[in-house]
Amino acid sequence: MLDSDWQRVVESPEAMVALGEEIGASLRPGELLALRGGLGAGKTHFTKGVVAGLGCEEMVTSPTFTLAHEYTGGRLPVFHFDFYRMETEDEVLRIGWDEYLDDNGIVVVEWADKFPELIPEHVVWLDFVVQNAARIVRVGE
Ligand SMILES: Nc1ncnc2c1ncn2[C@@H]1O[C@H](COP(=O)(O)OP(=O)(O)OP(=O)(O)O)[C@@H](O)[C@H]1O
Ligand SMILES: [Mg+2]
Repeated sequence: MLDSDWQRVVESPEAMVALGEEIGASLRPGELLALRGGLGAGKTHFTKGVVAGLGCEEMVTSPTFTLAHEYTGGRLPVFHFDFYRMETEDEVLRIGWDEYLDDNGIVVVEWADKFPELIPEHVVWLDFVVQNAARIVRVGE
C-alpha cells in the first residue's frame, strides 16, 4: 500500500483529515493500519479522514466508552480500535478482535504498539510524530 520510506509532513488538523481521506480512498479489503505516536499526535484525526475517504459520512469519535467503533456505509467498513484504555490482550480478544481482522473490512488501531502480539504480519505501521504545530506521519517497521 505505502512504500517503506513513505512519509508526510502535516501542517494542520484539517490536513491530517485530508491525508486520512487520501489513504482511505486507496485501501483494499482486509487492510490493517496500526497507528503509533503520543497523545494528541493526530491518530484520531487521521482515522476520521480514513472513514470519510471510504465514503462513510458518520462522525468519528475516540473509542473511549465503546471499545471498538464500526463505521459502515462506505465502500468498506472501518473497525476503529484504541488500545490506550484496554488493560490486557484478553480484553481485546474478548471484544472480537480476531473476527474483526477476518472481516475483510479495514481495521484501524490507535496505540497499536501496546499489544504488538495481537498485530498480524500484514499490517502497515504508521508513526505519528509531533513537531510543534506540525505532525510527521511515516511508515514504521
Ligand atoms: N498538524 C496537526 N495534525 C493533527 N492534529 C493537530 C495538528 N496540529 C495540531 N493538532 C491538534 O492535535 C490534536 C490531535 O488530536 P487527535 O485526537 O487526533 O490525536 P490522537 O493521536 O488521536 O490522540 P490520543 O492518543 O489522545 O488518542 C488535536 O487537538 C488537533 O487539533
Ligand atoms: Mg485518539
